[in-house]
Amino acid sequence: MPKHFLMCRPDYFAVEYAINPWMNPEAGADREVAIRQWEGLKSAYEELGHEVSLIDPIDGLPDMVFAANGALVVGGRVYGARFTFPERGAEGPAYLRWFTERGYPALEPTHVNEGEGDFLTLDEVILAGTGFRTDVVAHQEAQEYLGRPVVSLKLVDPRFYHLDTALFPLDGRNVAYYPGAFSKGSQEVLRVMFPDAVIATAEDAEVLGLNAVSDGRNVVINAEATGLQLELKRRGYEVIPVDLSELRKAGGGPKCCTLEIRGEK
Ligand code: ARG
Repeated sequence: MPKHFLMCRPDYFAVEYAINPWMNPEAGADREVAIRQWEGLKSAYEELGHEVSLIDPIDGLPDMVFAANGALVVGGRVYGARFTFPERGAEGPAYLRWFTERGYPALEPTHVNEGEGDFLTLDEVILAGTGFRTDVVAHQEAQEYLGRPVVSLKLVDPRFYHLDTALFPLDGRNVAYYPGAFSKGSQEVLRVMFPDAVIATAEDAEVLGLNAVSDGRNVVINAEATGLQLELKRRGYEVIPVDLSELRKAGGGPKCCTLEIRGEK
């Protein structure tokens, strides 16, 4: 099934502040390289037959390339984002406007949440992260608005500050994840819900290998996550490695650059 993604070209990308442990403003990042790598990701999606829509980047919002954080879209309904840090605050309304201008029903959120960074949608449930960014109360707000059960998971390692840095859906029923990113209780929840999950190593997690995008058959994944790629191939997935090393300097990978638009308006 082809998917529909929203992406934002990193025309104003930079590492100007540090709001996660990956970011070092002193070290900087090369915008030209970031743009080239991002174009590679976009082409990878298009070659797989997925549709990519674009939102205009805004000068002064260097992290806007991380479209996953802009909203959560399920069944054609848009639950807007409200960012933790003021540096990214203006992104929430910008993404919400993109959807409302196109006629999508949308909810402006009351509670702090960073969109698909912390909400990952499966067939029957939405998995939701908390601990660093998204407020657990937003999990309830999303459940009420979208009418889907939301399962809260607690993140405990600051390097894996969004759920999508530690876990990705392989399809509508199964996931891959790095247990070390989660609290003991949440590890148990994941074991109960997904007995057949792909378990990633620390090495794979440390190159943001879990920040991947699967369409149920093909997995677009950071090139450096070689162990995880082998396991995915062993399970019958096609692996499409991409190099997003420049965006990783801001703490982002393929999934961070990708907001899935699910369902009809
Ligand atoms: N620098 C951004 C931040 O810390 C990176 C966001 C990555 N996005 C994601 N979905 N994990 O907010």
